[in-house]
Amino acid sequence: MTHQEIREKFLNFFKEKEHAIVPSSSLIPTDSSVLLTTAGMQQFKPYFLGEKSPFGNRAVSIQKSFRTSDIESVGDESHLTFFEMLGNFSFGDYFKREAIEWANEFLKLVVKDYKNRMHVTVFEGNDNVPFDQESYEIWKSLGVPEEKILKRGREDNFWGPTGNEGPCGPNTEIYIDGLEIWNLVFNEYFCSRDKKLILLKQKGVDTGMGLERLAMILQAKENIFETDLFAAPFEILLNRPENQQRSGRIIADHIRGSIFLLSDGVRSSNKEAGYVLRRLIRRILVHAKKIFIPQELIFDLIGKAIDFYSSVYEDLEKNKKLILEFFKEEADKFNLTLEKGLKEFDKRYPLKLGKRVQIEKKIGQDAFDLHQTYGFPLELIKELLNERFYQFDEDEFKKKIEEEFKKHQEISRAGVEKKFGGHGLSFDRDNLSPEFHNVKLHTATHLLHQALRQILGTEVKQMGSDITPERLRFDFSFSRKLTEEEKRKVEDLVNQKIQENLDVKKEEMSFEEAQKSGALAFFKEKYPKQVSVYSINGFSKEICNGPHAEKTSLLGHFKIIKEESSSAGVRRIRAILE
Ligand code: GLY
Repeated sequence: MTHQEIREKFLNFFKEKEHAIVPSSSLIPTDSSVLLTTAGMQQFKPYFLGEKSPFGNRAVSIQKSFRTSDIESVGDESHLTFFEMLGNFSFGDYFKREAIEWANEFLKLVVKDYKNRMHVTVFEGNDNVPFDQESYEIWKSLGVPEEKILKRGREDNFWGPTGNEGPCGPNTEIYIDGLEIWNLVFNEYFCSRDKKLILLKQKGVDTGMGLERLAMILQAKENIFETDLFAAPFEILLNRPENQQRSGRIIADHIRGSIFLLSDGVRSSNKEAGYVLRRLIRRILVHAKKIFIPQELIFDLIGKAIDFYSSVYEDLEKNKKLILEFFKEEADKFNLTLEKGLKEFDKRYPLKLGKRVQIEKKIGQDAFDLHQTYGFPLELIKELLNERFYQFDEDEFKKKIEEEFKKHQEISRAGVEKKFGGHGLSFDRDNLSPEFHNVKLHTATHLLHQALRQILGTEVKQMGSDITPERLRFDFSFSRKLTEEEKRKVEDLVNQKIQENLDVKKEEMSFEEAQKSGALAFFKEKYPKQVSVYSINGFSKEICNGPHAEKTSLLGHFKIIKEESSSAGVRRIRAILE
């Protein structure tokens, strides 16, 4: 089924159920407490709160959405910054039963072997909001067996509000092949600025399903980049050698994001939405440089992407010239900065062609200056130093970044952070130092993986991992819930290894050698011939691209905050470093 057919099928399905088809709103929301439109419900916020809607009390839409929180995950199989969200909405009209039945009916209609491939989650309840028994019973009545109705907590199964305040409520999520595709939110509460939950006078339904993810399922593709939403406009970016794949995907995602932001009127700047756009454009240029894609080709691809979407979004075609001009202007500016910075860098660290002598000098302060003064992304700095045979001084760099982060934090935390809609990364951290905050959690993930294997047995295999500046998330194969004692033992073992202050060492070797040496590999990953192996002295050994903390004592104290089921036979742990 093509993306056009999916769009039509979805809209028609709900039109037949008396929903008004409402066009997508702009990526710049009217609610000024939210930076960008992150969900379909945003344009309908007043109607959930009782204001009369001009098109009745049922709506269906395909909404342009943008989530900054996922920027570091782009390049994997299913995360994007810009995406389109299919959604149906009820403002004081139908509630849980119809919403669940219709979602189930729609998916049954379009997903092959839906019954066997699906599972769902419902809200388990907490001190303020009870267990969502009603949704649980509705799923049961539709023939979903109990082991496929998982109960989850606030982080997964309670949605909203976007911005400072607004409607929110428990949600139920539908997964296909372990991938979350549809989120049905039952807006029963109003969350006030001081985080109090007040029961709404009218109940509402707000659902969201990623078009790209649904296309991936319906087109039987292994990742979103193979769907027709990407393959057609970006073929040249996506058919790359394995070591260029991530960069190709990042460029494709960021081109889509920037054309839609530009078309909706965002302009590059050093703050808020303008900063997001600037960051996207710079990342496009850096990754293009990295995988040898000339700038002219990037402009061609922008044109192609605009043409591809113009049948759905007329504004894009109208704004084509403008988008290309703004993009070019921003690229020229960045290229100038890059050039200036490169000149300064060349002066200090000349590139001596032919003289391949290893210089044992570590560069920290200059790397930091390049990052701060010239806006060089960290990945480029590392590459430049590497080219010139200097070592990057990660400790010094991190120290400087942390000092800068603290300064910024004091100045602007309260104002800006909220505008990211409560979706994870805050502005300052995103700007200055996601790498640093993630490094320690990454090393902790390796310790956790090995600790789980020692305490629970070698059936434990990594199935997924995700790191935000606040926490690590680790999915692994294991058939049952962990006992309290097992969790404590795992924590104790990780903390013991942190206290032993073990060295973290990196070695390069062939994939075969790595496997022979007993290095663990990520179960689902395809590896290149030559790989990096990180060992934590005598305890853990894994194939991994890093980066990692140099010594385990840098990690602080490790704590498991949650252990739960992720899908059948897979457990999920969330943990933090204190
Ligand atoms: N508003 C529902 C969602 O974004 O998932």
